[in-house]
Order: sequence, then C-alpha cells, then structure tokens
Amino acid sequence: MNQMLELRGRWTLITGASSGLGVEIARTIARDHGGHVLLVARRRDKLEALCEELRVRHGVQAACIAADLSRPEDVERIFTEATQARDIHAVILNAGVTYWGEAMKLGWSEFQAMLDTNVTSMVRLSSLFMPYLVERGTRGGLLLVSSVAGLIPVPYQAAYSGTKAFVTSYGQCLGQEVRHTGVSVTVFAPGGIATEMLDRTGLSNRFKAGDLGVMSPEACAAHAVRAFMRRKELYVPGLLNQTLALAAKVLPRGFMAQRTAAIYKPER
Ligand SMILES: NC(=O)c1ccc[n+]([C@@H]2O[C@H](COP(=O)([O-])OP(=O)(O)OC[C@H]3O[C@@H](n4cnc5c(N)ncnc54)[C@H](OP(=O)(O)O)[C@@H]3O)[C@@H](O)[C@H]2O)c1
Repeated sequence: MNQMLELRGRWTLITGASSGLGVEIARTIARDHGGHVLLVARRRDKLEALCEELRVRHGVQAACIAADLSRPEDVERIFTEATQARDIHAVILNAGVTYWGEAMKLGWSEFQAMLDTNVTSMVRLSSLFMPYLVERGTRGGLLLVSSVAGLIPVPYQAAYSGTKAFVTSYGQCLGQEVRHTGVSVTVFAPGGIATEMLDRTGLSNRFKAGDLGVMSPEACAAHAVRAFMRRKELYVPGLLNQTLALAAKVLPRGFMAQRTAAIYKPER
C-alpha cells in the first residue's frame, strides 16, 4: 500500500483534540496540509477556540463534538454526529489517560475510566469507522496513538502500560486484516511528550520538558502526521524511543521491566 494518504480538503476526525498532542496534530493537518478537522474531547470551550483558530488562520473547515469517551452512549453519538453532516476520510484516535503510582493503589473507578477511554472507546470507534471508511472506497486511514509504554512493560504505570500494549497489538492486527481494502492503519507509539498528561500525573517532576527523550507536542505531532500520511504500520518517533523499542525486541522483558521500574519508582 504505497499511495500517500491525502488529507487536503478532506475531513479528519481527531479525538483528544483539546490538549497536548491532539491539538498539535489538528494544527499540523490544517496548517501544513489544508485538511478539515473534526475535533473531539470533553472540554467544549477548548475545542471551539481551536476550531476558530484553525478557520481564521488556515482557511480550513473545523467543527467539534463534545463527548466523554468513557461513556458508551457518547462514543456511539460521536460516530452518528460525525458522519451525518460530512464525509470523514481519516480518523485519529489519540485521546488517552494515565496515572503514576503503585498498581495496588489505583482506584477501581479510575482503572475502569482508563480502560473505557484507552481501550474500549478505541475498539468501538475503530469498529464503527473502519467499515465506513472501507465502504467509502477513498483509501482513507485510521491512526491509533499508543506509547512506548505499550512496547515495554512500565511498572508504576502498570495498567496504562497494559492498555497501550493492547492498542499496539490491536492496531497492528487490524492493519493486516484490512490491508486489501486500501484503508491503512497506523499505530503511533511516542515516548514522553511535554503535555498536561505529565503535569496531571506528577511525572513532569521526573521527566521535564527539554530533557533528552521528552518531545514537544509540536515535534511529536509532525512525526505522527508524517507517519500517518505515509501509511506506516507502526511508528516510534525519535532516536531515543527507537533505541528503546529496539532494546525491547532484543533484551528479556523481565530485564526491561526491572530497569523501567528503577526509573519510574515514585519517591516515598
Ligand atoms: N504525554 C506523554 O508523555 C505521552 C507519551 C506516550 C503516549 N501518549 C499518548 O498520547 C495521547 C495524547 O496524550 P497527551 O500527552 O496529549 O495528553 P493530554 O494533554 O492529557 O491530552 C489528552 C486528551 O485526551 C482527552 N481525553 C481524556 N479523557 C477523555 C475522555 N474520557 N473523553 C474524551 N476525551 C478525553 C483530553 O480532553 P478532555 O480532558 O477535554 O476530555 C485531551 O484532549 C494519549 O493517548 C497518551 O496516552 C502520551
């Protein structure tokens, strides 16, 4: 499958577009590729402000759907609303949540919300959009945002690491199953990005913007959009992350888990 994904003048749906990587992916698609964007997240005010920015600065069409991906009824509504008013050509499932701490101290409701957001909504939206994209026959694409934490076991983010391992595996399998249709599936697996996610979890005290291996959301988004348009099956951005991904292939997983535990162990 070597024909590039064309985003110009076509609609791309992006989840998690109120903050961090999702905002910068939307900006990159509008600014650099003249693509129309449909933004999804819970914070409507942020989505509306970004829509206005992209329309005014880049002359593209932009719309938003406020929805909570941890609620099944919202996930169904996203597909209905998205496809009622426009033709969707590409879908970027980027929204995700994490935590930092001991697995045995993760609250059950927090775990459930993470599973619903990172895994269940991704599978449901993929299941709704993939047949739609295939039916349209315009060689669209689906991008799933995973993480290096989906390639390497990350203690103190155990459940998050598990959700991202699921996303990586699911996306790569789905990509093979739909290969003949002309619709591509890209799994994008970044390492640390300086976004609200690091601040919210406290991880920004351990991994700071500007540190080796912590990317700016702008740089990370440029990698994500390039990999998506080139229809890469799995893409890890940055030399350090690529080295970690390679290490995960050749070193025993137990050893990797031990080393990662030492890096991620919170101070008592
Ligand atoms: N930051 C990192 O170091 C890092 C590293 C590797 C991978 N990633 C992955 O990159 C993706 C983007 O993360 P980020 O760093 O940009 O994080 P972020 O700044 O915290 O953004 C997360 C986005 O997801 C949305 N979201 C979260 N829960 C949601 C829900 N229940 N319903 C709807 N939207 C929801 C948030 O919007 P609302 O709050 O407005 O709903 C926000 O737009 C995630 O999948 C993350 O796992 C991040």
